[in-house]
Formats: sequence, C-alpha cells, structure tokens
Amino acid sequence: MRKLIVANWKMNPVSVAEATKLFLGIQKTTKALRRTQTVVCPPFLFLEALSKRRKTVQCALGAQDSFWKDEGGYTGEISLQQLERVDVEYVIVGHSERRALGETDAVVNKKVKACLARSFVPVLCIGESERDADGAYLSFIKEEMEKSIAGISAEKLSRIVIAYEPIWAVGASAKRPDTPNEFFEMAVFIRKTLVGILGRKHRNMIMGIPILYGGSVNEDNAEGFLKDGNAAGLLVGRASLDAKRFSVILRVSDKVKVNK
Ligand code: PGA
Repeated sequence: MRKLIVANWKMNPVSVAEATKLFLGIQKTTKALRRTQTVVCPPFLFLEALSKRRKTVQCALGAQDSFWKDEGGYTGEISLQQLERVDVEYVIVGHSERRALGETDAVVNKKVKACLARSFVPVLCIGESERDADGAYLSFIKEEMEKSIAGISAEKLSRIVIAYEPIWAVGASAKRPDTPNEFFEMAVFIRKTLVGILGRKHRNMIMGIPILYGGSVNEDNAEGFLKDGNAAGLLVGRASLDAKRFSVILRVSDKVKVNK
C-alpha cells in the first residue's frame, strides 16, 4: 500500500500566486515518487486555480472541510457537489481546529456519510486533548470514533482514512509531537475499536484502513512515525507550507518500506 501524505495548509497562504508557487514546488517532488500518494488541502478559495495546475497523479487535491447537503440555503458552506467539480478527491473531516469552533461528533458523522455517499475519501481526524495517566483518553477516542462513524456500513467504511492527531500535539501551541511508539499503540487501539464497532468478520477490511499520524510532523520525525510507528501516512500542517521541508518528508516517505 502506498503511503498517504496529506498537506493541510489551513488558512494559508494569503494569495493565489503564493498557493500556486507552493503547489508547483511540491509537485516537482511528487512526480518522482513511487510509493507515496500526496494530497494537498489548500483553502477552498484556491482549489479551482490549483486544479488547473495539477500535473501529476501522485499529487491529488483535498478539501479541509465540506458540508453534507448538496445545495441550498446554507450561507458560507461548500458542498461536495461543488468540490467534485474542482478535482477534489479527499476531504479532511472533523479536524480538531474545526471541532474547537463547535463542530460536534454528530456533524462530523453527517460529513463522513456524505463523503462516502459520493466518491470522496474522508480523512477523519480524531484525537484527545490531554493524555491522562488513568487512560480516560482511550475512552474518549473510543466514543469519538463510535459517534463519528455511527450508522455507516463496513462496506462504505472500507474507503475511509483515519488520522490520529492528539490535540496537544497539533499546531503552533503544541506541547510536543507524539512518539512513534505511542502512535503505534494508539493505531492498535483504533483498529480494536473498529473491530468492536463493526464486528470481527470485518477484521481484514479494518486492517486495511490507513491510519495516519498528525501533529507537529516535520522533516526530522517523519521517518520515525512511518518506520517505527508503522503509520500508513502523515497529516502535515506547518511543515507543508514550505515546499523544501515538505519535499524532504515526501522523499523520506518514499524510502520507507511498504506496510505489511
Ligand atoms: P501541525 O498541524 O503539523 O502544524 O501540527 C497538523 C494538523 O493540524 O493537521
């Protein structure tokens, strides 16, 4: 399975010219990659322009969010039907920065369902705000997952990507990145939780769901998460805003041997 490296540009950069420059810089690297699928998620505003500058299949476009209805009176929202027309294949759903603005698990669930009803790949973000010694964070993750994927068939979920992003490791105010070992254990826990939700008979499908790590990923720690953490890929924020830094991560990913 190819590694999946997702760039989350968040509310950056300021202009379409800068966005295009960054996108072209990233594509210079992606065209040589063999074992890595890159997904760039710019602000909505730049998607159309970037879709016209897409040169390689190794570099896909993603959205940072979406709405679950197709059209109508939903001021400020962007629908999947609209995103389909600008080449978007992946959609980040339930990012912690959106949840911090009030997005609930119930809303996240509607968005995941809507992505899977069309042909999008939802990148479902989950993660706790604190890691306590008693393991309450594990119950939090379990509940967050149960609610986010409630009522969705195993068949549909075979297309989902899960990004584990502990909130304390995300963004400029992060305490530290997670460790590859802790991520490895969390990925096991996430798969166990999925088996609990969907049933043992779907174990093989569940083993195939990519689980990415996100939170302060950079060119120095990427290899550890992919190799020792056995991550199926990475969700990269700050380090994806610099074509050189992000390219180092992409090349590292391409060198790491394919997951078993
Ligand atoms: P960061 O962001 O890499 O800047 O910590 C990751 C994310 O929010 O997806």
